[in-house]
Amino acid sequence: MLIFESPSAMTAWSSTQRSDHKTIGFVPTMGALHDGHLMLIHEAQQVSDVVVVSIFVNPLQFNRRDDFEHYPRPAALDLERCRERGVTAVYAPTADAMYPGGFDTHIEVGQLAQPLEGAGRPGHFRGVATVVTKLFNAVQPHAAFFGEKDFQQLTVIKRMVIDLDMPINIVGCVTTREPDGLALSSRNARLSTTQRDAAIVVPEALAAICAAHERGITLSRELRDIATHVVRQEPLARLEYIDIVDPHTLHQVDAVNAEVRVVIAVWVGDVRLIDNIALSV
Ligand code: PAF
Repeated sequence: MLIFESPSAMTAWSSTQRSDHKTIGFVPTMGALHDGHLMLIHEAQQVSDVVVVSIFVNPLQFNRRDDFEHYPRPAALDLERCRERGVTAVYAPTADAMYPGGFDTHIEVGQLAQPLEGAGRPGHFRGVATVVTKLFNAVQPHAAFFGEKDFQQLTVIKRMVIDLDMPINIVGCVTTREPDGLALSSRNARLSTTQRDAAIVVPEALAAICAAHERGITLSRELRDIATHVVRQEPLARLEYIDIVDPHTLHQVDAVNAEVRVVIAVWVGDVRLIDNIALSV
């Protein structure tokens, strides 16, 4: 497995692959790889000649310093996982290589980045869009694979590649879950045993909305109340938002009259968990 640490080395290799008519599948990550990432790698391998995984904890997208500092960085284990899974190349740039002194250019994201995660984490999507653009420039992928767990991120990036004429197919992949329903996330590793038990309210709240919708409840306000009640039963959990939104505009909808996304963010201790599900009529 090849490992590249600078944009120029990455781009030189990618250009050779492209000249050899190889299709490049790309899985951008911040490391701490779990089965959800391995699923993205698997999806990429199904449709690409070569697969590149990037590992870079992007300081630009963290609005809390403690979150950035505590973000898990099991570098050796991550490389081992990629090697085991037959990843062709890992792109693991240093922060200096990505943001050398004088770095001063960012991607300005629009309306899709304002609500939900954007409201709770100011500057987050500006940081994501900027790093993803830089990663795309270095890796030059034909297709890039993102988890649906970060649904707003997926939506913002899909819009960005259209708006900026980036010839990259953005593939959204279904969320991988623990057997009890908790969505896999690198942040789950920071939950204590009791917090991990409490975190189950996140998928339970979404399941309660699904069940209520199947019983015929369509008003968003009523569905949100049901989920709020589920989260309030758990003393270790604090609901930040539960919203029912149009999956394309991310605008809140009053009722489920077409396909929607139910999106949720919950704090368990100092760990912030997000999740979402699709609901259709
Ligand atoms: O989803 C993530 O892990 C990150 O936001 C990404 C896309 C790798 C950008 O840093």
